[in-house]
This record gives sequence, structure tokens and C-alpha cells, in this order.
Amino acid sequence: MSKKQPEPCTYVIFGATGNLSKVKLMPALYHLEEAKKLSDDTRIMLVGRRDWNNETCIAKVRSWIEATARQGIQPAVFERFTKKLSFFKGDLTNVEMYSRLSEQLSISTCTNGNAAFYMSIRPADFGQVVQKLSEAGLLEQTVGWRRVIVEKPFGYNLESAQALHHRLSRYLQEDQIYRIDHYLGKGTVQNMLVFRFSNTMMEPLWNRNYIDHVQITHSESFGVGSRADYYDGAGAMRDMIQSHLLQLLTLIAMEPPVSMEAEDLRDEKVKVLKSVRPISKNAVHAHAFRAQYQAGSINGESVPGYLQEDKVPAESVTETFAALKLYIDNWRWRGVPFYLRTGKRMAKGQSSVSICFKDPPQQFFRDKQIVRIKPNWIVMGIQPTECLRMEMTVKEPGLEMRTRQTSLDASFRMEGEQATDAYEDLLLDVIEGDRSLFLRYDEVEWLWRVIDPVLKVWSTERDYIKGYPAGSWGPSESRHLFEKEHQKWRHSLDPESDDF
Ligand code: BG6
Repeated sequence: MSKKQPEPCTYVIFGATGNLSKVKLMPALYHLEEAKKLSDDTRIMLVGRRDWNNETCIAKVRSWIEATARQGIQPAVFERFTKKLSFFKGDLTNVEMYSRLSEQLSISTCTNGNAAFYMSIRPADFGQVVQKLSEAGLLEQTVGWRRVIVEKPFGYNLESAQALHHRLSRYLQEDQIYRIDHYLGKGTVQNMLVFRFSNTMMEPLWNRNYIDHVQITHSESFGVGSRADYYDGAGAMRDMIQSHLLQLLTLIAMEPPVSMEAEDLRDEKVKVLKSVRPISKNAVHAHAFRAQYQAGSINGESVPGYLQEDKVPAESVTETFAALKLYIDNWRWRGVPFYLRTGKRMAKGQSSVSICFKDPPQQFFRDKQIVRIKPNWIVMGIQPTECLRMEMTVKEPGLEMRTRQTSLDASFRMEGEQATDAYEDLLLDVIEGDRSLFLRYDEVEWLWRVIDPVLKVWSTERDYIKGYPAGSWGPSESRHLFEKEHQKWRHSLDPESDDF
């Protein structure tokens, strides 16, 4: 992860009037400006079909940033930022737009010919846009660099990912493609790498000899919102597990890389994915579980079920909850189950990784008042609670031999320290040409290989899907995935909570 001085470039945002641009990309670029990470000569070009001009564009961007800026909008920073902004009206399907774009880019000599094209557009359009960019000569790296940033989903399954890759690689070299998984831009996620590879204390314990199982959870209390168009065709397994949660799994399970350089890091992540035990067709139900939210209540407010949401087809069996059990068949992890779980409209929004250690070989205090010593856990809260905790058992003060759980906290962020958004890191990495936090193509293929068998079986079971009330932790049947009696979903980050 080498950090060089940021070079000037033109950031061309396709789909710039859409939601991602509004809530993530423009605020992230603004925060980079605030942190003085953008060179003065950087240009940001918002491409869209709307009838905007530079003034309307700046007014819109101002309103987006007003709603999101961490320290409110700073007039001097915003003024610098607006000097970089321009609106470019154009239709992605129109060839003429690309020649105009080419002219425009050649005018901005101050950017040294560097340009990054951000595909904040429907995945179905990735292919044609890249093709047209190439035909207009916009991907040639004769003067500066040309990079393309692709948002997920990268394909719909292994086959479509291969087809998309085949198409893109006709026009782009692998090192021009930046496949985003925004989880890798989160500070708490990057901290997992630091925690693992900068501290020697944990390494001897980080294996099948000491670890009982690993849980990776991302729950959300909100529903599908206005995204049913996309979500109903994807479902929770593709939307969260194939991408973000499997990324977390690779970081937890990978071997120490030769270096933190992109290829070394990604080599190790790919090795983990290659070692995931394939799930045979007959084993799908023992390894995967899905369900869909029904009407319920969240924080005392009634909310509709998935089928009542806007644009959701009446008969949809798309899963909004998915859980998966995986084994990594290598020397470090063989026999340790990894349980991955995600859901919308759950009791609470929380992303975390919880690592449960094995019981001590003997329960010395069995004849005392202690029924069963609780295991040690390492709990990594990713959001909204950020934490890194080691949970241990200690004696309660007093004459009796009672125990309780306590934790050692290794906070990631000190009081008063600002959090940055994942997109800030990633958009800057693109300018710096640092691909360590982006997915390499072979990684994408292996991610699909892990979940494809499950998706295939589910796609044939279209008559029924188990429901769960909004505001719950999902159907209790998902517990069938657990291998052992004592294993159960951990919902809380609190060591003393019984809400496991
Ligand atoms: C996106 C998914 O990739 O990640 C969404 O498409 C999900 O469905 C989101 O809500 C979660 O991201 P974050 O950063 O809010 O945890």
C-alpha cells in the first residue's frame, strides 16, 4: 500500500446524477479536497443526461455535501472544490458523446493526460461504455494513465462474470481495472490486517488448534428501500456475502503476505478462496439458509414486508436474509467452520467479526458454582460500533467462586479522531495507482465459485421461501447450520450479554 504524491487527473463520473454519486462519491471527493489530497489541477467531470449546466451542477453538489460533510461545508474548501467541477451532458449510448469527451479531456492539459472513469451506472452498461471509450481512443495510455473503476456487482454468477471480463479485457489491461468492494476501504476492515500482521501475540493462536469457529455478520435494520429493481434480481447472498462478507473472510483467514503490495496481498486472498471446500449440490441445505422479511416492527414502528415494498414482484422469493457455513481446507483452518450471515430488516444494524476460541482442555471449576466457563472471543466491531475486544473470564470479587466475562479493548479510534469514509480511501488509491484494496479478476472468479453451487440450487426452488418478522434476528432455523451444540449466533458485542 505505497502512498505516492497524488498526481493530477480528470475524474470522470458516469452516472453522476445518481444516488451513489450523491451520497458517496461527491462527499468523498470533497473530503479529499478538504484534506488537501487532490492536486490543484485535478478536474472532476460529472456526466449525466439531465439538463444541468455547471451552475446547476455546483448547486446540486453543494446540497449533497451540505447533507453529508463531516464538519459542515467549509466555504474556502468548497470554493476550491467548485473550481475542479464541471458538468458534461451526455447519453452513454451515444457515440458522439465520447468524441466530445475526448476533445474535452485533451483540452485539460494540466492533468497530464491522466483520467479515471468511474462506472456509477447499471452493470449491464459496463461493457458498452468501456467499448465506446476505447473506440474513441479514451483508454489509450500514450500520454498519461487511463483507469476504469467498476462498482459491484461484477457479474451475476461465474459465467456472466467471465463474459463481462472477457468483454472488458478486449479494451483494458488488468492493471487499468479497479474493481471496488467498498468494505476494503473501511478503516475498521483495514485494521484487521494491521491487527493480524503487526502484532505477534495473536499469530500462534490464529489457527485450528485454538479457534472453535468464526462468525461474520452484517445486519441492517432498514429494508430494501427504493433499490428493489436491482435487489430483487440479486438477493442477500449475491449482494452481501459474495462480495463484502467473503472479503472479510479472506482477511481473517489469509496467510501473512510477502509484502503489503497489491499482488502479494491479493495472492494470499485468492489462496484462501481456492481453499474453500466446494459445496456439493446435496450439501447446499446443510451449508446455506435463506429467508425473506415479512411485516414487523423496528424501534416500535411498523414496517412492511419485502413483498409489500415498492417495485418488488408479488411472487418474489428473493432472499433478504442469507447465512452460509464454509470450511477452508488448508493447514491453518481445516475443520474450523466460518459462519457468514446477513439480513435486511433485522433487529439491529451491525457489522462484526467474532472469533470464538476453544474451551480450555479441563474445566477446573466444574464443582464450584460455575456451570460452564464461557469461551474467549475476539470481537471486531466494524460498524456502527467500532471495537476490537478480547473477551476473557475473570473471578468476580467476593468469597464465592463465581466468574464473569470482561474484555480487553484495543480501540481503533481515539476520542476526537474523525472517521473517514471508505470511498475516500478508495478514490485516492485510484489516483495513486494503488490496487491493493481492489479485486483482481481471478479473485472475482473464485468468489463466484464459492457461492455458485448455492445459487444454482436456490434458483430451482422458486415456490417457497421462509419468512421472518422485520425487527427479528431472522428465522431460528438458521441455527441448523451450526456444527456443534454450543455454537450459536452472536448478536451482541457485549461480553456479558446473553443475546447470543
Ligand atoms: C452494498 C449493498 O454493497 O452494501 C447494500 O448493495 C448494503 O445492500 C450496503 O446495504 C452495506 O454497506 P455499508 O457500507 O452501509 O455497510
